[in-house]
Amino acid sequence: MRWSLTEIVDNLLQNLTTSSDPDLVADYAGAIPVEIIGNLLGVPADEREPLRAWSLAILRPLEVDTNAVQLQDGDRAVTEFIDYLERLIAMKQKSLDGGDDIIARLVKWRHEGRGLTPNELYHQCIFLLNAGHETTTNLIGNGIELFVRFPGELAKLRAEPSLINTAVEEILRYESSNQLGNRTVTNSVMLGDKKLDKDTIVTIGIGAANRDPKIFPDPNKFDITRAPNPHLGFGAGIHTCAGLSVARLEGQVALQRLFQRFPELELTKAPIRDRRARFRGFLSLDAKLN
Ligand code: HEM
Repeated sequence: MRWSLTEIVDNLLQNLTTSSDPDLVADYAGAIPVEIIGNLLGVPADEREPLRAWSLAILRPLEVDTNAVQLQDGDRAVTEFIDYLERLIAMKQKSLDGGDDIIARLVKWRHEGRGLTPNELYHQCIFLLNAGHETTTNLIGNGIELFVRFPGELAKLRAEPSLINTAVEEILRYESSNQLGNRTVTNSVMLGDKKLDKDTIVTIGIGAANRDPKIFPDPNKFDITRAPNPHLGFGAGIHTCAGLSVARLEGQVALQRLFQRFPELELTKAPIRDRRARFRGFLSLDAKLN
């Protein structure tokens, strides 16, 4: 996917040059995953516009302080997305040999009598959009803010571009875009000195684990050369993030090319964090590019 990703990124960078008041969340960090997930699901390019808003509305109720209006918005977004998916899937069913995107493959699989029920298929599509969108937007957005906040680390990256790989791992550790994980205890177990009974629902503090001084020397230091860096930004075990390779690639290409193209990049306003517990990122990053 590197080639098509680089093309998407370069087009967005080109658009930024003509924007009088660029916001690097809306116009860049948030726009890249929409295109990537759109490609993965085989959503036609001119039908992608609602994807970001649906994803944000569906994810909002994952927060503990969700209100009734946000819950309704989430439900409405699911209904609208399913309506859209019904039409998209019907179109793909008509041409069973067309396309190698994920929906086309799952539809073909179903046709062969092995696949998912319609509801399972909708769930997979909605899940993929949500899993891959806001998380990656925030990886890129958090990375931009961190490099602006720590110009010494940006200078290191400029001097040694291959550091982008460890830099992205450090962004995922230092400002974990997904702060909380979830598990249900299947058999009672001792965790440290706590006994957890079967069926206990556990919320895991990924962001806290990633600053554990027993694992990470000087944990509050942002150090793009940090290695080893066994962060839990993508979770762990058999349910480790299925999209981690594409997420890493998006982060690497997006950040590297942005700072190469705009070496004088500055933020023009203090960035405002989106104050959610699960997703860590910025509402906007207003920038002056040169
Ligand atoms: C920086 C970006 C991303 C972060 C921080 C992230 C983080 C996570 C985390 C913490 C989990 C839960 C893992 C666990 O329970 O142990 C997860 C699961 C998952 N993610 Fe990601 N993710 C990212 C991007 C993506 C992308 C781009 C995709 C798809 C294209 C994706 C697809 C998935 C899927 C399918 C799962 C469920 C895996 C399973 O339950 O077996 N993620 N992700």
